[in-house]
Amino acid sequence: MNDRASAAPLAVVVLAAGQGLRMKSETPKVLHPLAGRPMIGQVLDTVGALSPTRIVVVVGAGAERVAEAVAPHPTVVQEPRRGTGHAVLQARDALDGFTGDILVLYGDTPLIHADTLAAMIAARHGPGDPAVVLLGFRPADPAHYGRVVLGEGGRVRGIVEYADASEAERNITLCNAGILLGAGPALFSLINRLGQDNAKGEYYLTEIFALADADGRKTAMAEADPQEVLGVNSRAELAVVETVMQTRLRARAMVQGVTFVDPTTVWLSVDTSFGQDVTVQPNVFFGPGVSVGDGVEIRAFSHLEGARIETGATVGPFARLRPGTVVGPSARVGNFVEVKNAVLGKGAKVNHLAYVGDAQVGAEANIGAGTITCNYDGIAKHRTEIGKGAFIGSNTALVAPVKVGDGAVVGAGSTITRDVAPDAVAVARGEQTERPGAAKRLMGRAGKSKGKG
Ligand code: UD1
Ligand code: CA
Repeated sequence: MNDRASAAPLAVVVLAAGQGLRMKSETPKVLHPLAGRPMIGQVLDTVGALSPTRIVVVVGAGAERVAEAVAPHPTVVQEPRRGTGHAVLQARDALDGFTGDILVLYGDTPLIHADTLAAMIAARHGPGDPAVVLLGFRPADPAHYGRVVLGEGGRVRGIVEYADASEAERNITLCNAGILLGAGPALFSLINRLGQDNAKGEYYLTEIFALADADGRKTAMAEADPQEVLGVNSRAELAVVETVMQTRLRARAMVQGVTFVDPTTVWLSVDTSFGQDVTVQPNVFFGPGVSVGDGVEIRAFSHLEGARIETGATVGPFARLRPGTVVGPSARVGNFVEVKNAVLGKGAKVNHLAYVGDAQVGAEANIGAGTITCNYDGIAKHRTEIGKGAFIGSNTALVAPVKVGDGAVVGAGSTITRDVAPDAVAVARGEQTERPGAAKRLMGRAGKSKGKG
């Protein structure tokens, strides 16, 4: 992105007014999640790498929800929608006085690489000072994309929309990705001249290339990999784009020193962060907000979100970490354990079948199988504090708010409703009784009643 430094200031216009009818959804298309956050967030992140001075998002369908999601970036409303040229025009006032370059891209085309955008910027400041630069690509199936019509010497003569294209033009395999870059003032003066005399009766942004060419102004083209300009118009396309995104996120994690035993079975969020020498077994789900420290092992079939897992900890198999969980250094969370809003100290162990919610667990404490923090009384949530080195016997119910002191021991099967002092032993369960020889009489009776049927 060194080209940027020497180039003009950059403003970005993201088109996101479309309704996305084919999504069949109440949710505006650009808010459908990709790697755990709205897909438009990916576009905003990517353009952020180019250090634009301004970003304006053009919204229409579901305008308020989209505006909220892209805040603090300003939005302008396009209503009614009269085409991509008309959409960009809505941003003119917001960009008043801006004389640098303007990059236009779509909120529903989230896989675009910053390097490709940088290549467009380089082309714009390359030979001949082209007023506008388009992004072309050669898809396996050109389908209904606009076709790029080239002239002598590779000059761009214009873009023909599929609906308006002749048979010969439809045979062109070079397509328009829709992303473009122009010198601000030139771009808006070209857009001002757009007509609606076309198959759809819309203001086609793409027509600016033919207008510039007719003026004798140079235009230019950069080329994209078809994969990075995949657009989302349906749930099926969203799934394809998600797969590409996941592949990228896993590749990035592997570069950072993560071993995925079976990569394609692991699902990551865009913000999942990893240290070095992490091992992730198959079928693990990383929801938003998970950070994983060095040397951690996440075993198979675990579901994690909003959790911090510190150096050397082990999680799973079959663990569930919910938001607010901190698994301390070398701590262990084993199978069928759910942890929520709880901090496990260094070396603490919760190895089997437990629920630890709204709790603090001291270093080296051991929580036995089947232990439950009863954090909810039907009205409010309460906290449980377990001291350092405490031992909670299996099948204990800790009725919060309650504290178990450092080094205390709670007998198995206890229902603890009062605080336990440090180093004390607490047992709270029914006394065991025993009647010598009673078993035979009991079984005899049982046998008779069985016989009577
Ligand atoms: C557009 C291009 C076509 C290109 C294709 C790539 C035009 C005229 N055609 O066609 O050359 O091959 O993209 O995908 O530009 N939008 C608005 N307001 C509008 C219309 C559209 O915000 O009034 C937004 C949509 O939400 C969408 C994007 O602009 O994100 C593209 O619009 P769409 O109608 O999908 O354009 P295509 O017909 O696919
Ligand atoms: Ca489209």
